[in-house]
Amino acid sequence: MMSDQLTIALSKGRILEETLPLLAAAGIEPEEDPEKSRKLVFETTVPGVRLLIIRATDVPTYVQYGGADMGVAGKDVLMEHGGEGLYEPLDLRIAKCRLMTAGVAGQAPPEGRVRVATKFTRLAREYYAAEGKQADIIKLYGAMELAPLLGLADEIVDIVDTGNTLKANGLEPRETIAWISSRVVVSRAAMKMKHERLQPVLDQMAEAVSRKE
Ligand code: ADP
Ligand code: PRP
Ligand code: MG
Repeated sequence: MMSDQLTIALSKGRILEETLPLLAAAGIEPEEDPEKSRKLVFETTVPGVRLLIIRATDVPTYVQYGGADMGVAGKDVLMEHGGEGLYEPLDLRIAKCRLMTAGVAGQAPPEGRVRVATKFTRLAREYYAAEGKQADIIKLYGAMELAPLLGLADEIVDIVDTGNTLKANGLEPRETIAWISSRVVVSRAAMKMKHERLQPVLDQMAEAVSRKE
């Protein structure tokens, strides 16, 4: 039966690494190591449960459109996406970081319009508007830390954890926009149609999260 299938969307890197032990606590383990394979779909030790390995920013989209029933994504990605059609039943408390503004160390932000480079254009626009600051948002897909150094922007909006990346590039952290961790997302359709299949997985993952605290 279709509703026995469960498709879980994850992204490579820290989310995959930190989510696999939590899925394992629910008895779900990939049949081969996703970090060492070019495959995008992985069968697991549980029949009918499979993992998709996709770009972090695509996770909410796959879940929203029913390509996956459930996924794990950073709160930054979820806020930028907007979260339409998604439930967020569980905070996995992994991949913790902050979404911050940053600029060239020792350089005051401009008085008037601020040029802001970021991949989080929606969140940046909302943040500067809420602060009552005029902002011109420049969309980048990575290495935002370069933009102020090369005169592309006055500030960036980016993920900060240790602050090492900012420091290594002559930047300083300024304001915290949001505290971030990764969340489980479930589509409205799956929550309704696959509730019995999903709930034990969510419960066992939640238990594994609280055991770590
Ligand atoms: P990508 O950079 O391809 O989007 P990452 O694995 O680096 O994928 O990031 C996935 C999520 O982990 C981000 O959406 C964010 O929530 C969080 N994250 C990103 N960078 C860091 C970091 N340096 N430390 C902790 N968490 C991070
Ligand atoms: C992330 C983020 C920052 C950095 C912040 O990059 O985009 O550049 O971590 O972490 P820090 O404050 O501890 O230095 P990541 O390591 O994910 O590399 P990426 O550019 O490949 O995403
Ligand atoms: Mg990254």
